Amino acid sequence: MQNKINIGLIGAGTVGSGAYKVLKENFAEIYRKTGKEIIVFALAEKDTKRAKEVADDKTLIFEDAFDLVKDKNIHIVVELIGGTGISKDLVEEAIKNNKHVVTANKALIAMHGEELVNLATKHNVNLCYEAAVAGGIPIVKAIREGLAANKIEWIAGILNGTTNYILTEMKENNLSFDVALKQAQELGFAEADPTFDIEGIDAAHKITILASIAFGIPINFKATHIEGISNLDQKDIIYAEELGYKIKLLGITKFNNDSVELRVHPTLIPEKRLVANVDGPMNAVLVQGDMVGPTLYYGAGAGAEPTASAVVADIIDLARNLELTGTNQIPILGFIKDEIQTKKILSIEDITSEFYLRLSMKNESGVLAKITQIFAEHSISIDAMVQKEIQEDDKVVDIILVTSIMIERDVNKIINEIEVLPESQNKAVKLRIEQLNR
Ligand code: HSE
Repeated sequence: MQNKINIGLIGAGTVGSGAYKVLKENFAEIYRKTGKEIIVFALAEKDTKRAKEVADDKTLIFEDAFDLVKDKNIHIVVELIGGTGISKDLVEEAIKNNKHVVTANKALIAMHGEELVNLATKHNVNLCYEAAVAGGIPIVKAIREGLAANKIEWIAGILNGTTNYILTEMKENNLSFDVALKQAQELGFAEADPTFDIEGIDAAHKITILASIAFGIPINFKATHIEGISNLDQKDIIYAEELGYKIKLLGITKFNNDSVELRVHPTLIPEKRLVANVDGPMNAVLVQGDMVGPTLYYGAGAGAEPTASAVVADIIDLARNLELTGTNQIPILGFIKDEIQTKKILSIEDITSEFYLRLSMKNESGVLAKITQIFAEHSISIDAMVQKEIQEDDKVVDIILVTSIMIERDVNKIINEIEVLPESQNKAVKLRIEQLNR
């Protein structure tokens, strides 16, 4: 029985320094839970000055992380540099050297998870990635283990702290998009390349991983439909609020027997839902199981210590179960390999949803009649319709519509027909609505 466990930590950035701190400060607590002395044996960081600030002098510092992954003294390699370049090579090298790997790298798992899981299985080691999704919220374990008895029906989550922070600041404190983003960067929530946050890519990495472990499907990042918040107009946040909705960037995945929906986009959700009131950089994930019903997980989705909390929990799992290999361990993606089934990922045009539409029309009589006529011709009912008060001299008016549930392809046809009306002044804004109650 291995009683001393040596960690090789790669990266002394926000999460790396957080993991170092958690392992050191909670050493005794972790011992009580594992019966193992877990220490950071080595830290790899190109910026050795930074490494010396983070680590004490008992920790070996490696400038080259490839030396760390080969070191015979190390039992668990923890990759915390992010990205899909060198981090992939390092994780592969660690696995080939028969080390268990813990990573917080959502891009790596979403893009290369399949091959890394296969490699880990071949070498009889584990690959743990709790921190890759929703930072400190233990959502991977909740779905893979806590809800294992259920068929998961759908998941909807606020999975990106940066965009949730931006949306909250824009709405509550009237900050501009750029100022709110800069603050999120200063607070250490944003990705190295913040377009990953604001264009929905980071949330897409995370929902792709969750869809795989929830439904037992291959990790399919390329098929995920992704829209971010950079085109979101403050006007729509205000109009949505007047209709009783909040706008959140949601990652959504739904299972429909022979197909799966997998999408990230700004979404209107009723303001009375708990998840609508998750503000600032916080994350929340709503998971619907067929037996348990809805379950909601809330917590910090980014930042040094919350993310490190998930990283260290994975280290603790490994420490407790170091001897377990192959079929004795929890399947890395939650389902046994032969039972992972390919499902069609629906194109966005094939999903059904209610829609919020903002139409920009000339303020002339007969316009509303023409719009309702187009909807009637498609047999689609309108659940709400509001014409915004016009400013003096303003000849253009915003018309807000909420549709009943319909196929996105049909709403696109309706929009096309409205946009060619002579009264139409601008492209229509289309946002999806999720009631999150079924
Ligand atoms: N940039 C990410 C976020 C960090 O804002 O949520 C956590 O994955």
